[in-house]
Amino acid sequence: HKRQEGLNVNDFLWGGATASYQCEGGWQEGGRVESMWDVYLHENHLENGDVASDHYHRFREDIRMMKEGGQNSYRFSLAWPRIIKNREGEVNQEGVDFYNRLIDACLEYGITPMVTIFHWDLPQYLEEKGGWLNRDTCVAYTHYAKVCFERFGDRVKLWATFNEPRYYTNSGYLIGNYPPGHQDIQETVTASYYMMLASAMAVEAFRTGGYDGQIGIVHSFSPVYTTDTSVESAIARRFADNFYNNWILDTAAIGEIPGDLLGELKKTCDLSMMTPEDLAVIRRNRVDYLGLNYYARVMVKPYESGETTLIVNNQGKKAKGTSQTIIKGWFEQVRPESSRYTEWDTEIFPEGLYEGIQQVWNKYHLPIYITENGIGLYEDTSVNQVEDDDRIEFMDMHIAAVLKAKEGGCDVRGYYAWSPFDLYSWKNGTEKRYGLVAIDYENGLERRPKKSYYWYKDVIETDGKHITGK
Ligand code: NOJ
Repeated sequence: HKRQEGLNVNDFLWGGATASYQCEGGWQEGGRVESMWDVYLHENHLENGDVASDHYHRFREDIRMMKEGGQNSYRFSLAWPRIIKNREGEVNQEGVDFYNRLIDACLEYGITPMVTIFHWDLPQYLEEKGGWLNRDTCVAYTHYAKVCFERFGDRVKLWATFNEPRYYTNSGYLIGNYPPGHQDIQETVTASYYMMLASAMAVEAFRTGGYDGQIGIVHSFSPVYTTDTSVESAIARRFADNFYNNWILDTAAIGEIPGDLLGELKKTCDLSMMTPEDLAVIRRNRVDYLGLNYYARVMVKPYESGETTLIVNNQGKKAKGTSQTIIKGWFEQVRPESSRYTEWDTEIFPEGLYEGIQQVWNKYHLPIYITENGIGLYEDTSVNQVEDDDRIEFMDMHIAAVLKAKEGGCDVRGYYAWSPFDLYSWKNGTEKRYGLVAIDYENGLERRPKKSYYWYKDVIETDGKHITGK
């Protein structure tokens, strides 16, 4: 295998981020078994990632374009269903070979791989046994993680145990818009807990195996704001911060699930799966860094009335403005009218990234990577070059926030654009585009850089000199 040369580990990482299911395609190739997403999307006749960006066949081209676009790091995930064949834990050599080729291509191009071990594509054979509601999945995950460290650890030095466990459990078990499509608070708590336990178990395996490098977790980060400075709002803020952030960040970084959160949950949920032995595993295995995916802040006010309601806009402009979050007894989300929003109701608020980085740095004092940031847009990609000025403006403001936090003393080590090329956006399909490179899904999946691709290249090459922050 090739080793990486010429890259200084102190360099700021400027990269692009993807996820296996969202880009690879090749769903029946190379001995890959089914993931829960294949089954869920096929059964419900929904747009799927069978082909996606066909990265499985075109990864060389994609990585070359990243390199030519100035990027020095690629954050991608490994598909568990490509690597582990069955519940017995047998390794699929063809899957390992595929990722060996992909990692080697990164190194050949001087691109540092940052590898996510789990980005939502759980093997269906585990989902059938309860998925993340079953502690056996934590054991299976640890075995899978060890296989990854063993096979790829000679070249991969930056690992993430999980991508967005909060988002995964909320969508799959509370909102029900992602597989397995349940709406159950107890299940949400159980699955969230087991994912955080599995993360700690993998960190333990990484440490005891003596692998070289850093292991962290990637969180869907939503810094919490309130409409006023009343004590009621401060309480609502704490509830929301526990709900959105602390459950993941405290647990991973401090080794402790917030006590006040547990106290609240215990009023209505069974927490007996949290055994003293497993809590000790969580406590002694903290991460080396925190990966923050930032899209928007959340603003909240004290809970007033109504049942717990979680409405996510997966329909874009047809449903603009319908998003809503109420957590009964805890808080309600407020959507400031004066703010700008995308067609999918994501508020555009770069200050949240600046302030959020400061908060996370001051609280945990761990290195931070901005592991995702970007904007979903409708785009006509039949043209030669998409003039995505809105994306450029969005990235400019957010990169400015990152650089400002870094200059202010926060240890931020990298920024990853979501995404280096267009991808399949889960329930939002391929019409919600995030890429710096357009993929023409109608015409042989041809790749064509957008204006933002060249703009990002200039940002990287000039170390952000032309960033305006406006
Ligand atoms: C979060 C997730 O990690 C990724 O899978 C998703 O597509 C993007 N953000 C965009 O919403």
